[in-house]
Amino acid sequence: MKCVRCKKQAEVELKSHNAAFCRDCFLYFFENQVLKAIKSFRMFTKKDKILVAVSGGKDSLTLWNVLLDLGYNADGLFVHLGIEGFSDIAKGKVERFAKERNAKLIVVNLKDEGIPIPEVKKKTRRVVCSLCGQIKRYYFNMVGLKEGYDVLATGHNLDDEVSRLFSNVLHWKMEYLVDQSPVLPSEEGLLKKVKPLCRVTEYETSVYAFFKGLDFVDIECPYSKGATFTMYKKHLNQIEFSSPGTKIDFYQGFLKNLKPILEKREEKIKNRCKICGYPTFSDVCSVCRLKGYT
Ligand code: AMP
Ligand code: FES
Ligand code: ZN
Repeated sequence: MKCVRCKKQAEVELKSHNAAFCRDCFLYFFENQVLKAIKSFRMFTKKDKILVAVSGGKDSLTLWNVLLDLGYNADGLFVHLGIEGFSDIAKGKVERFAKERNAKLIVVNLKDEGIPIPEVKKKTRRVVCSLCGQIKRYYFNMVGLKEGYDVLATGHNLDDEVSRLFSNVLHWKMEYLVDQSPVLPSEEGLLKKVKPLCRVTEYETSVYAFFKGLDFVDIECPYSKGATFTMYKKHLNQIEFSSPGTKIDFYQGFLKNLKPILEKREEKIKNRCKICGYPTFSDVCSVCRLKGYT
């Protein structure tokens, strides 16, 4: 198989793009896909101060690496969840990356905030992952606003987006469908949020991380979300195998055809938490409630 760009021996075949690439041309293709997402969704420019939420996993470290290589002004934010045997390892990987790339890293430790995830887990009967997600998003937003960033970027890739879309459609979760987007604009109390890896698959991201020699955590969080999204990803990959290009069509089709209709009927959250000002459906947001301010 030959590289479609330079005709050297190809190392990667991408059926959904009807293409095969050598190593250098794959890296060029990958960065170009990220650039395309950044530009077509007007995520940010070279003038913006970008805060990248980095977990230490392959997606967010890939994102930070690509943004730095492309010359964006991108700092990192790591939220230490206080999970034994997991959070310290992840922090080590992120710190090492930041040092190697001479990049600024902000660390928030949930123990210092009084809400480490193992303690939160004891206090709630809900699945801790969804609360953990809410807590992380809360600090992404608060730190970003406080430190004067223009935009917050996360490492969600096409497979994350498509499996979430699939799940939201299967269960007609309208309130989540409204918010599913590679760009959420800033509004009062909310920082702009973007997903620059929304055009690249998990496989493509793994290949990028491998070619670049990125050192990331590959152990799962012990409280891992469970099998639902993984199950959807597996089914979607089977469909993709028989019909290459379906995943990106499904996602782009949603953004083009359904999203504008949903946005028209969206009800904005008007309430703000009376303790910290974060947007919420009730008087006090869930993080302030966890901290005991009720
Ligand atoms: P997840 O919800 O674990 O799939 O993570 C989605 C994205 O959230 C990642 O790609 C990161 O950008 C960000 N993220 C997850 N965990 C952390 C963390 N502990 N600290 C900073 N960012 C995180
Ligand atoms: Fe939050 Fe696992 S990463 S519970
Ligand atoms: Zn090539």
